[in-house]
Amino acid sequence: MAFDEAFLDELKSRVKVADVVGRRVKLVRKGREYMGLCPFHSEKSPSFSVNEQKGFYHCFGCGAHGDAIKFVCETEGLNFREAVERLASEAGMALPEESPFQREREEKKRSLYDVVAAAQQFYRERLAGPGGSAARAYIDRRGLDAETAERFGLGFAPDGRTVLIEYLTSKGIPLPEIVEAGLAVTPDGQSAPIDFFRNRLTIPIRDPRGRVVAFGARTLLPDGKPKYINTGETPLFHKGRLLYNLDRARKPGFDSQAMLVAEGYLDVIALAQAGFEHSVAPLGTALTEDQIALLWRVVPEPTLCFDGDAAGKRAAYRALDRALPLLKPGQSLRFAFLPEGLDPDDLIRKAGAAAMQKVVAAAQPLIEVFWERERDAADLTTPERRAALQKRVETVCDQIQDQTVREHYRRELKDRLWGLMRPQRPVRAGGQPVPMRQSGAAARPSLRNPPPPKRFGAPPAVYGNPLTLRNSAAARNTEGAASGLSEAILAFLMVNYPAICLQDYEAVEELSFETPDLDRLRVQLLHFAAEHVELDESALKAHLAAQGFAEVLSGLENRGVLALDRAASAGLPPEEIVLRWRDAMAAHRRVQALSPAARRARSEWAREDSDRARRSLEEAEAALTGSIEAASGDGDAGY
Ligand code: UTP
Ligand code: MN
Repeated sequence: MAFDEAFLDELKSRVKVADVVGRRVKLVRKGREYMGLCPFHSEKSPSFSVNEQKGFYHCFGCGAHGDAIKFVCETEGLNFREAVERLASEAGMALPEESPFQREREEKKRSLYDVVAAAQQFYRERLAGPGGSAARAYIDRRGLDAETAERFGLGFAPDGRTVLIEYLTSKGIPLPEIVEAGLAVTPDGQSAPIDFFRNRLTIPIRDPRGRVVAFGARTLLPDGKPKYINTGETPLFHKGRLLYNLDRARKPGFDSQAMLVAEGYLDVIALAQAGFEHSVAPLGTALTEDQIALLWRVVPEPTLCFDGDAAGKRAAYRALDRALPLLKPGQSLRFAFLPEGLDPDDLIRKAGAAAMQKVVAAAQPLIEVFWERERDAADLTTPERRAALQKRVETVCDQIQDQTVREHYRRELKDRLWGLMRPQRPVRAGGQPVPMRQSGAAARPSLRNPPPPKRFGAPPAVYGNPLTLRNSAAARNTEGAASGLSEAILAFLMVNYPAICLQDYEAVEELSFETPDLDRLRVQLLHFAAEHVELDESALKAHLAAQGFAEVLSGLENRGVLALDRAASAGLPPEEIVLRWRDAMAAHRRVQALSPAARRARSEWAREDSDRARRSLEEAEAALTGSIEAASGDGDAGY
């Protein structure tokens, strides 16, 4: 049922945004507005404001923006309708009258819910009863404890032809409703319906409100075929629009800002038992667009789990292709690959929750999976073949509908193609690059830097928790500080992790810093990198100091935010540093993409948080958004 404008206006006028937000965020009055710490990104000083007159919240840090309904959707993982219902009931408002047609349909659905609920009751009783011993033993063999089985409502459909039908009709439920709920079917060539689920373990499927709407059911026979059967489409159940366990997973998912997507029901149950409550699964099909949208309502980057074998890779590529057109700024997928031949349930049983956690922590961003697919399929032996790879990458990029995301993909992939295609340095039999000059790496007794990965574009073996990455100084910088900071962070990373300059030489070359000292430092670094095959941090720093950069270096060390990032990055593996570098590059490009006016406004606001500064920032950002939209169709959005 859609809500009409008048009802929504009435609701918004009755509900105070500051009250709704105030339940989650500590707000302090500041002039006409309230300020607090943004619940949508991590910050130490408040940039989240609520304006009661306008009926909106707005975060100047991360750009989160919306009204009371949106706030409830985003913080509680409810959909629009659910949020409206919640707020209306809190405000003591009755929901609008339904039309007779709507009422009839709703009533019919209401009674179907009761039918399914009665079936669920029946299956559970049968699991507990004397006929359920084989099913109980099966649950036990799968390592599920009684509490988990109970919590997930597992049941047992006995092996008769009309056991459920008889039970339900004895309760006064008419046969046509049993059929309509998908619980009974008439086999081909027969005249009367029989039970749909027979001699199977039943797994109730709940809708986002927690009501049972359908079942999946697994055979108990070792080679029973088909292994799973599922309720067909019914008025209550559309398998492409629902995710298994979403009702339970979304709150822990939202709270931990992580969602796991497995392939099977029993994976989800095993994951939950092992402590991964934020797990869901599609319902026997590949992930649909609707399901991806459902996930994004909870978190911006859900993690899909796949088997590490070829079939798993293919499934991952399918999901990737499905997601590409839907990507939005900040919204993506991550891909976790399990050891070959294992699903999450197998892995947890074999190696425990910690092993699963490791796999999740190593999940790759979508761009890596994208790149890996293209790179592995590539043949670079002739110019024509290299051109074909470039063309193909561009065509796949064109799938991305969002212009801003598409531009960032193009740019990043261009960088990676460059890295892949530029002539490699000669390689000795041992696999080590030949030093260009003997005074370089080979002469030094101890090298503090690990040898750089083969190629910058190669997917790092380990990725950090997205939360830590999001909290890195580089990321925070994108969220509102002055633009000089993004340059300082890049310079800091280059000086302290000089391998970056070797690996991303072209990108460093293309950069230009506005801070003159830092730009000279960058050029010096390039000279040094050009002459050395491996870069030692202390040798580099000594060289830079000798070139008159001592003060610039200590300036870099002393900036507060950098010190923080340094502490956070101490002891990180090189792959993690590479990620930070990429974050910082992206941040820098975003800052560069701002108009001069927006940039001025931003740094002024960073210095002084006055109403005036905030207003001019808002105006500049609005103008910028307008101009980016106006430029759509034009190839390059201001880079
Ligand atoms: P899998 O075949 O990967 O099974 O199906 P699984 O989850 O590992 O099952 P167990 O561990 O052997 O019990 C994954 C999902 O695909 C759907 C189901 O939704 C299942 O959870 N499926 C699978 C079917 O719908 N029908 C089938 O015959 C098999
Ligand atoms: Mn399995």
